[in-house]
Amino acid sequence: MRIGNAALLVVGVLLCAAGVARGADRRLAPIPRDQAVSSHGPFEMGACDTCHARNDPRNPGPASVTNDACFECHDEFRGSAPVKMERALHPRAGATNCVGCHTPHNSRNRKLLLRT
Ligand code: HEC
Ligand code: HEC
Ligand code: HEC
Repeated sequence: MRIGNAALLVVGVLLCAAGVARGADRRLAPIPRDQAVSSHGPFEMGACDTCHARNDPRNPGPASVTNDACFECHDEFRGSAPVKMERALHPRAGATNCVGCHTPHNSRNRKLLLRT
């Protein structure tokens, strides 16, 4: 029993270390569906491998946090030209990554925003 718990602890610590090592950002993790005000197309469709290493929803593996993955479908954001939205211009991103303001999954706020 004691050895079993110790082994579990070691596995837990190793998993945490792995998460920290590859910089996984828990803030960006998906939230329960019924709490979401907005949800992202590719996430809704279960296409995890659009951004993650694998298409296994229970273990999709690491994802890239660079903007390149976003530009694949949101090309209009690539340059420095202002992007026109329905009623306003998109905020200037500057040096902030897309995932600095938006979750790639689903959000308690509109437009996949991390904060209001
Ligand atoms: C549009 C791109 C995109 C799609 C589609 C996407 N993800 Fe992610 N996901 C990301 C990014 C970017 C991160 C942050 C990775 C990091 O910080 O290292 C992330 C992080 C996560 C995390 C938290 C960090 C971790 O590794 O534990 C989980 C859980 C997750 N995604 C699950 C999913 C699942 C399940 C799907 C498919 C149903 C999915 N994602 C689809 C981009 C995406
Ligand atoms: C495989 C294609 C695809 C990729 C890759 C992708 N998106 Fe999207 N995204 C969509 C679609 C489809 C929509 C819904 C239609 C629309 O609003 O253009 C959308 C909508 C959005 C919206 C608006 C959501 C709303 O509620 O109106 C945001 C914000 C967004 N994406 C951010 C991102 C970010 C950040 C990334 C990179 C991490 C990303 N997208 C990568 C396909 C994609
Ligand atoms: C500084 C924060 C910030 C950054 C960085 C940012 N966004 Fe946004 N984005 C917003 C806000 C705020 C809105 C919602 C504006 C509104 O509807 O009032 C938005 C809206 C959007 C929408 C919805 C557009 C529509 O017509 O409603 C998309 C798509 C989007 N962003 C994609 C991106 C992509 C791709 C990147 C990375 C290149 C990015 N955003 C970076 C703050 C940001």
